[in-house]
Amino acid sequence: MAIVRLDKVSKVYGKNKLKVHAVTDVSFEVQEGEFLAIVGPSGSGKTTLLNLIGGIDRPSKGKVYIEDQDITLLSKARRSDLRLKRIGFIFQEYNLIPVLTAVENIELGLLLLGIDKAERRERVNKIIKDVGILELANRRPKEMSGGQQQRVAVARAMVTKPAVILADEPTANLDSNTGISILRLMQEMNHRENITFIFSTHDPMVMEMASRVIILRDGRIESEEKRD
Ligand SMILES: Nc1ncnc2c1ncn2[C@@H]1O[C@H](COP(=O)(O)OP(=O)(O)OP(=O)(O)O)[C@@H](O)[C@H]1O
Ligand SMILES: [Mg+2]
Repeated sequence: MAIVRLDKVSKVYGKNKLKVHAVTDVSFEVQEGEFLAIVGPSGSGKTTLLNLIGGIDRPSKGKVYIEDQDITLLSKARRSDLRLKRIGFIFQEYNLIPVLTAVENIELGLLLLGIDKAERRERVNKIIKDVGILELANRRPKEMSGGQQQRVAVARAMVTKPAVILADEPTANLDSNTGISILRLMQEMNHRENITFIFSTHDPMVMEMASRVIILRDGRIESEEKRD
């Protein structure tokens, strides 16, 4: 079973003369355990595509399947439920909740899923060690560097054990060494937990780390490259 499948997906923003064809006729499958990069110039449709896969947005045409479920047919409420349970997100701007500590940010999804306190504690304690932020557990986002915040965001995305983690330019706001270390962390989690990652990037160094690269141009797949 493919974790993600897109079947002739298109997204058009606006109407009439202001129409923007952001994504056009894109089809591909992502298998469990892939570490897939989506690359392409600014405006090529990377964010739009990730938003369609994550059910944040709906395609104008075509189908998006997550674990064989057609998410284009789901109501908004069902899509947010699916996101909570099966999809993790990592953002360029980290998007942690400012008033919560690192641990509280990570725990939030588990609370929303109704997981009991003992299991929440166990999972959070494990993941903060895995991502190397044990000593930052009680800090708030503004008391952490960008790289540290992104580690918290990786932990937050992982802790609910999603089927796939979507990351839109997760290293764009980091210096290149920190960016590489975040990608290494994602790669380690991908290997160790067999979690599927789909991330977009501009950075050739980051692209090198992918197991497969899909290159977008003007909203279409221009080419695809399989590694090792
Ligand atoms: N909400 C929107 N309304 C109208 N047009 C949009 C909207 N969002 C994106 N677009 C347009 O769709 C196209 C694809 O945008 P998208 O943000 O997906 O590109 P991107 O590859 O993520 O670019 P970047 O590398 O700059 O982040 C662009 O032409 C953009 O201007
Ligand atoms: Mg983008």
